[in-house]
Amino acid sequence: MKRIAVLTSGGDTPVMNAAIYSIVRLAHNKGMQVLGIMRGYSGLINGDMTELLPEQVEYISNQGGSILKSARCLEMMTDEGKAQAVKTLHDFGIEGLIVIGGDGSFKGARSLTHMGVPAVGLPGTIDNDLAYTDYSLGFDTAVNTAAQEIAKIRTTMLSHDRICVVETMGRHCGDIALKTGVAAEADFILVPEVPFELDDICKQIEERQKKGRETSIIVLSEGAGDSAEIAEYIKEKTGRDMKSVVLGYTQRGGEPTVFDRVLAMKCGKRAVELLNEGIGSRVVGIRKNRIYDLDIDEALTEKLEFDYELYEQYLQMTNY
Ligand code: F6P
Repeated sequence: MKRIAVLTSGGDTPVMNAAIYSIVRLAHNKGMQVLGIMRGYSGLINGDMTELLPEQVEYISNQGGSILKSARCLEMMTDEGKAQAVKTLHDFGIEGLIVIGGDGSFKGARSLTHMGVPAVGLPGTIDNDLAYTDYSLGFDTAVNTAAQEIAKIRTTMLSHDRICVVETMGRHCGDIALKTGVAAEADFILVPEVPFELDDICKQIEERQKKGRETSIIVLSEGAGDSAEIAEYIKEKTGRDMKSVVLGYTQRGGEPTVFDRVLAMKCGKRAVELLNEGIGSRVVGIRKNRIYDLDIDEALTEKLEFDYELYEQYLQMTNY
C-alpha cells in the first residue's frame, strides 16, 4: 500500500495519540503515506483529513486526547453513510484504514473491508469491555487515575468520618471499578456483574461503625447504579454523613501510563503490518502478554468474562 489513513472514534482515551505516533512513524518506514482523518467516521464521510508527517507527531505520545479528535457517528451505521465513506477513501486514494475505537467503531471497519477497503481496528476504549483483548488502550491509565483520586478522597473522608460513593466509568462493564477498587482497598465494590442489595451494604456499614470504622469508600461502576442516589439511600437508612463523587472524564484524560503507551505503540505496529500485507477486517489486541490479531466478527462475538476470581480474592482480603 502507498497511502493509508487513521481515525479515532467513539469516546476518546488518553493513549490514542501514542497509537497515532507509532502508526505514522512505522508506516513511513515502510514507504506509506498516512492521512489523519478528523472526528472519526464523520470526517471520513465529509472528507476532512490531512497528511500526517513523522515530524508532526513528535512528542504527542504522552498527550491525552486525540490530535484527530474523536466522535460517535450515527451516519456510519447507514448504507448511505458507508457508501459515502468508501467513496471518500477512493477519492483520496486511500488503500487501507486504521480505526482506533471500541466495538461500534469496529463494525464500521468490518463494513469498509467488505466494501473493498481493508480496515483494521485497535481497541481504543478505557472500559476494557472488548473480550478478545486482555487490555484495551487507555484502561491502565483510567484505573491508575481512579485509584489515585480515591486515595485523595479517602484522606478527607477519614478526617470527617464520612462515607463516599465513588463512581467510575465503564458503561456496562465493571472492570474499571473492580481493578480500581482492589488497588485502592475500597471497602465495597459495586459492579453490574455481581448482584447486590443496598440494605446489606447499610448493615455492613453499621457493623463497621460498631468496630470503630467510621469511614468507608464504596466504589461503584456506572453500570451498577447512580452514586448520588445510592449515597442518599444509605444516608436515609443509616443516618451517616454520605458523599458521592463521579470521577467522570478525569479517567479519560491526562497523561497516559507507560504501560498504555507501549501497548498502543505495539498494537499500532501490528496494524501497519496487516495493512501493508493488504489484510483488513482484523482487530489487534494483547492476550497472555502477546500482541495478536483476530477477525473482527470473531472478536465481536467473543463473550466478555468478568474477573470473578479477583472479585472473590478482594472479598477475602477485605473481610476484616
Ligand atoms: O466508552 C467510554 C466511555 O467513557 C464510557 O465509560 C462512558 O459511559 C461513556 O464513554 C461516556 O460517553 P460520553 O463521552 O458520550 O459522555
